Amino acid sequence: MTVKYVLMHKNTPVAELEMDENTGHILKVPETYAAEHLPVGVGFKKGATERVDLNDWWINRSIPASRSGLRNVLETLGIATPSALLTRCYGLSLSDQYWIKPENSDVSWSNVNFFENPFSDDIGDILFGKPSSKRNFDFFSPDNTSNGNLKKRWKIVDEKRCLIKGGSKPFQQQPYNEVIASAIMRRLDIPHIDYELIWDEDAPYCICDDFITAETDLVSAWQIMLTVKQPNDISRYQHYINCCSGIGINDIVHALDQMITLDYIIANEDRHLNNFGLIRNAETLQWIGAAPVFDSGSSLGYELTPAQIRGNAAVECKPFKKHHKAQLELVTSFDWLDFSKLYGIGDEISEILSDERAALFLGPDRAAAVAEAVEKRIDDVHDMAMDMHGGMANDNTEDDVEEDIAQSYEPRL
Ligand SMILES: Nc1ncnc2c1ncn2[C@@H]1O[C@H](COP(=O)(O)OP(=O)(O)OP(=O)(O)O)[C@@H](O)[C@H]1O
Ligand SMILES: [Mg+2]
Repeated sequence: MTVKYVLMHKNTPVAELEMDENTGHILKVPETYAAEHLPVGVGFKKGATERVDLNDWWINRSIPASRSGLRNVLETLGIATPSALLTRCYGLSLSDQYWIKPENSDVSWSNVNFFENPFSDDIGDILFGKPSSKRNFDFFSPDNTSNGNLKKRWKIVDEKRCLIKGGSKPFQQQPYNEVIASAIMRRLDIPHIDYELIWDEDAPYCICDDFITAETDLVSAWQIMLTVKQPNDISRYQHYINCCSGIGINDIVHALDQMITLDYIIANEDRHLNNFGLIRNAETLQWIGAAPVFDSGSSLGYELTPAQIRGNAAVECKPFKKHHKAQLELVTSFDWLDFSKLYGIGDEISEILSDERAALFLGPDRAAAVAEAVEKRIDDVHDMAMDMHGGMANDNTEDDVEEDIAQSYEPRL
């Protein structure tokens, strides 16, 4: 059945939508009221919103098919696709201010947004494998619109909106890695989101605050990269910088220097284009700047053995270059990096990973191997910083990442 909605950006009506109620897909965009408020990257040509772009953005708002715990939700609730869950919470999220308002409804943003109104734990409970009664099931949750492949849920803790996120088998190392990455960034004054470790039913999780408020939107680098068509002879890195300049952010390089350096130090394997981005004001549309660094967990040899970690086994690199060394060469300045702040980081890492309960997953030798590997990679950055007096290496499209795909944590058979 076709149902009419209005796409809203906080209190601003953006476009009229016709949607298929069963699949949650956008079938038509008959009218656009405020093109400047369309999600970043959605085309608007000859007075009309590009329906395919808008539908892609909308479907991307749903829980990805590869999310751990999703099958349990769909089977328990008898729902065919995760996109069908979107309309059950007006498509509201805790990462931006977009939502859909049913035609002729008098519901307002202030009455429904998740930043200021309570939400249900039901979807989060099923995602976390907890029994839930189907009777009186309440779908009103930002968990319907949260992205990413790892098991996760939003919770209100002491009035604060917090994201709780797990790890993947067999080592469940990602929550620890988030804590370690936070420690490194705290020492280096890199704007970041702090993660802490918590336990739930004998499994480790990390918890962090929502860094988006009722006034702001997180806009992924993926969306930013869509604002201009990438010319063949321009590298992905340069294209991102150009797109940022195009929307008025001319100082993105420093934030990229910091993110790339962190990712080298922790051997991050999954900094894809949805794992960093920009923040803007959702009403004035003014750009605020780079989002604090988040989601650094798929790193520190989280799927490798201690021997492989010690041996500096090659791991995938994203988002700009396929190899970590090549990506580190993109850094234009290390002047902000005070290496003395990293003294003792190996001991801090060993301590974080030597948590008694973690031993069950992580095994005995892992903590020492990770600490050693990080110290070795910090030495590499130090060498690179010393060598850089001749200026930055020339960037070109060689070694550029070709496709942006997030890591999937399904066990490999
Ligand atoms: N603290 C936060 N505040 C607001 N939004 C957040 C926060 N953390 C994550 N998000 C949003 O939720 C999405 C999923 O979170 P995150 O990237 O941490 O999960 P993930 O499962 O590790 O992802 P991936 O599939 O990249 O491994 C992010 O892409 C971002 O849009
Ligand atoms: Mg992510």
